[in-house]
Amino acid sequence: MNPGNPVYDYMVNKEPYYHPQGDEIALFTAAYARRLPVMIKGPTGCGKSRFVEYMAWKLGKPLITVACNEDMTAADLVGRWLLDAEGTRWQDGPLTVAARYGAICYLDEIVEARQDSTVVIHPLTDHRRQLPLDKKGELIQAHADFQLVISYNPGYQSLMKDLKQSTKQRFAAFRFDYPETKVETEILVREVGIPEQTAEQLVALAKSSRNLKGHGMDEGISTRLLVYAASLIADGVPATRACRMALMDPITDDEDIRSTLEHAIDATFN
Ligand SMILES: Nc1ncnc2c1ncn2[C@@H]1O[C@H](COP(=O)(O)OP(=O)(O)OP(=O)(O)O)[C@@H](O)[C@H]1O
Ligand SMILES: [Mg+2]
Repeated sequence: MNPGNPVYDYMVNKEPYYHPQGDEIALFTAAYARRLPVMIKGPTGCGKSRFVEYMAWKLGKPLITVACNEDMTAADLVGRWLLDAEGTRWQDGPLTVAARYGAICYLDEIVEARQDSTVVIHPLTDHRRQLPLDKKGELIQAHADFQLVISYNPGYQSLMKDLKQSTKQRFAAFRFDYPETKVETEILVREVGIPEQTAEQLVALAKSSRNLKGHGMDEGISTRLLVYAASLIADGVPATRACRMALMDPITDDEDIRSTLEHAIDATFN
């Protein structure tokens, strides 16, 4: 891709470190070959975003990521008219840029977005591959390289907030979970450079916290938090302090669960 291309800056230049959990790389490659829209589900911090970055790098396509939130409107995705010294000027939103110039557009936490913004993706994610810019009076035919990827965490969703079937049924889906013990250990060793034994101890703590899910805890310790704890330990913070700060305090204020985790931390590292 040449530097004059408007999406050139979104190229992923350096290979992101990604340890596969299964056959997801081959499956994503197959989905991309058909330009199927892809949905990635899974708990927070389990590797969804890292995977998408890795795939963009592997496929050699630019990646435009949008963090969705409840205030996001269709205009934030598609674009809007702006007023400036010369009058009005149209500014493409991130989804429009991706569709126009051929990038992978990654809508993170899509369920947070309002219904009107999820509906704009409908004509883009079926056989039409079109994006109507109603306010501008333009109909964009998506670039051949364009693909839409969305992610969401099914754990948080209330029925009210779930995606509509007519949205869900436009995507092929990947169900992610925390990596299995060996893989997660290796991720900590590779990503942070701590000794394997310490990595194993951290992963064991995370696994026990994940078993508490539903028993007073919404979600267990994520791979992301394990990476935090490992980084602190690598920098010389005593393991028990690092674990309290990165693994326990962020996720719960429930006294019973805290004391269970505290015991587990002390038993592991003392
Ligand atoms: N398979 C993996 N290979 C390499 N690193 C990983 C992997 N899975 C998780 N990680 C590590 O965990 C961190 C969190 O992963 P990531 O940001 O992809 O989570 P996520 O699933 O997108 O979470 P969220 O839903 O909160 O956005 C990464 O920054 C990386 O350090
Ligand atoms: Mg993410």
